Amino acid sequence: MTRLVVVSNRLPHLPSSGALDDHRMPVGGLATGMRGALRKRTGSLWFGWSGAVVPVGEEGRLVKGTMEGIQVAGLPMTQREISSSYRGFCNEVLWPLFHGFPEKMRIDRDQETCYREVAARFASTLRPMLRSGDTIWIHDYHFISLGRELRRLGWTGPLGYFLHIPFPPYDLWQLLPEPRDFLEAMHHYDLVGFQTMTSLDNYVYCCKRLLNARRDGARLVAGGRRQRAGVYPIGIDPTVFLPREETSRGRGRRGELTRVIRGRRLILGVDRLDYTKGIPERILAFESLVKRFPEWRKKVSFVQIASPSRSRVRGYVEQKRRVDHLVGRVNGELADHDWVPIRYLYRSYPTETLARFYREAAVGLVTPLRDGMNLIAKEFVAAQDPESPGVLVLSRFAGAAEELLDAVLVNPYIPADAASGIARALSMPLQERRRRHAALLGTVLKATADAWSRGFLEDLARETRARTPARTRRG
Ligand code: G6P
Repeated sequence: MTRLVVVSNRLPHLPSSGALDDHRMPVGGLATGMRGALRKRTGSLWFGWSGAVVPVGEEGRLVKGTMEGIQVAGLPMTQREISSSYRGFCNEVLWPLFHGFPEKMRIDRDQETCYREVAARFASTLRPMLRSGDTIWIHDYHFISLGRELRRLGWTGPLGYFLHIPFPPYDLWQLLPEPRDFLEAMHHYDLVGFQTMTSLDNYVYCCKRLLNARRDGARLVAGGRRQRAGVYPIGIDPTVFLPREETSRGRGRRGELTRVIRGRRLILGVDRLDYTKGIPERILAFESLVKRFPEWRKKVSFVQIASPSRSRVRGYVEQKRRVDHLVGRVNGELADHDWVPIRYLYRSYPTETLARFYREAAVGLVTPLRDGMNLIAKEFVAAQDPESPGVLVLSRFAGAAEELLDAVLVNPYIPADAASGIARALSMPLQERRRRHAALLGTVLKATADAWSRGFLEDLARETRARTPARTRRG
């Protein structure tokens, strides 16, 4: 099997010694999917940002290590690169734009230049490490133009790209400083993958309008280049979340959180603290639930776990202030001496703890305003006791809503609509809960992280074989 080279901004933890600590492997879909795929191919390489910020002149110092047979190589970034490229262009232009929040964009052409320079620097460090026959898979919005840089440096071998966040519609894409050029950069990959059909349709439409691309089956042809574009919804490793013997049979409902909320029914939200996740809107939905359905007053508790994220990016500072304020206001208005309606935990928890918390919840509230996929929804489903499962209330703007059709789908922008969804979930008869959960679990067990990476890599291999005659197949 050929060697796989994965490129992503985040890497497993790299201590300065180069010795990698197995327990620091990042969790999440990308890491789970990559770990499986990389371990299958001996000597594979995972390349990205080392996580370090260094003085100018030291950014070329590659940190290397191995973990579970996977080679990991990370480049540090300078302060300027972090503030202009990562915090600036990635998280104040691409992130808000792709998620449909143009008002949060702050376009600065110097930052855009820095973003391109980072891609070029990472490409020129990676190029000498590549071997003929390697397959390269680049991930997410941090490195859109890295593939084109590799092509400029003479790489002709298999090159795939997966976008973990939504691809925006044409009119939003046009807000980019160089909309045509960014799209052209994406056209250098043999295969581009998206989480949803909606994203794929947006991409195809943009290519038609800006690159004069035409469709040839699953392929797009533009400027003499052929590319395949497809939908590959990312999944989880369900085994991490499935209830074990001792925790099944309803015992989850007598767990740690339930004790704290004194046996009330638990409504649970788990997110990074990000404005795309709709946490303020969710708090308003909970307030609306208690006011419009007074029978649930003091019978439920809403626990929102919000893990700190990008806390030095402006939009995130504002969001935190907004959430802090809202929790205080709503709790102040609704609480009584014997009831704390909302418990807001600004911290993160290990996966095993989250799995236990999910199992205790009567309702999993996953209501982002926009999300590429949202793996919390899938984790919540996997963690439920099939005999008495909690109900998933899911935003119709999460990528997961294209697959998890048996969730209670709501519009998070309308608190009253989300509140009705929560009320419906809370009073759902056992038979219906079981039926919906069985259907959801079927999807989660089938569309795993492993199946996702396998599907993408098979298509990439097929695509490259179709493009390259056997005699000339080389890197
Ligand atoms: C999203 C992105 C990932 C990113 C993660 C955490 O899931 O798709 O690429 O790594 O958020 O964000 P951070 O900025 O901390 O890497």
